[in-house]
Amino acid sequence: MKVVEWIFAVLILMGVLFAVKLLYMFATVSVQPITQGAMFVPTANIRVSTFLDAVPMSADDLLVDIGCGDGRVLRAARKRYGVRAMGFEVNPMAYLIARVRSLGIEGIQIRWRNFWKVDLGDANVVFCYLFPDVMERLAKKLEAELRPGTRVVSCNFPLPGWKPLEILSPDSSLHDDPIYVYRFPDSCRL
Ligand SMILES: C[S@@+](CC[C@H](N)C(=O)[O-])C[C@H]1O[C@@H](n2cnc3c(N)ncnc32)[C@H](O)[C@@H]1O
Repeated sequence: MKVVEWIFAVLILMGVLFAVKLLYMFATVSVQPITQGAMFVPTANIRVSTFLDAVPMSADDLLVDIGCGDGRVLRAARKRYGVRAMGFEVNPMAYLIARVRSLGIEGIQIRWRNFWKVDLGDANVVFCYLFPDVMERLAKKLEAELRPGTRVVSCNFPLPGWKPLEILSPDSSLHDDPIYVYRFPDSCRL
């Protein structure tokens, strides 16, 4: 390849990266009033495996990821346990990536919906990686809707007033933020 062609290729690559960044910013800002700070930041794979190791599921269970991002938690859980997996996502970019990456995989449903408007009563496991500002409101929603025995897993941010059964910390210096594991209603303040 000639030098001019290399320069051209690098410029195109930079343009594409810039466009993706712009799209990410636009998608994030457009849903900020709903997400209240919980941006599209996928959970590291080592953290997903740590969660799956600690929270076994059966094929009859329904796992719900409230704010499923690119859907990686749903796919990993489906692959490991054959669980039914459902994700809600409002960020259009994350939703599209989740749909495309989950194409052809049975047992996974991804909906473009605000999870605050969905009843979570059918879930056996609720997974979330949200933001501190919404955790109090989320605790109240879960207390109102969950069935006894439902497990709740929250990455990074605890549910105020709830007592975790376990706090997981992946064996990785880069990704060692806590993962809180709860069981309803034993863990909560009812
Ligand atoms: C930190 S990311 C986590 C993504 C995914 N759960 C994971 O662990 O890889 C949080 C996601 O929640 C989504 N989200 C936040 N509030 C939401 C809401 N009310 N309804 C649906 N999705 C929401 C955001 O758009 C974002 O993609």
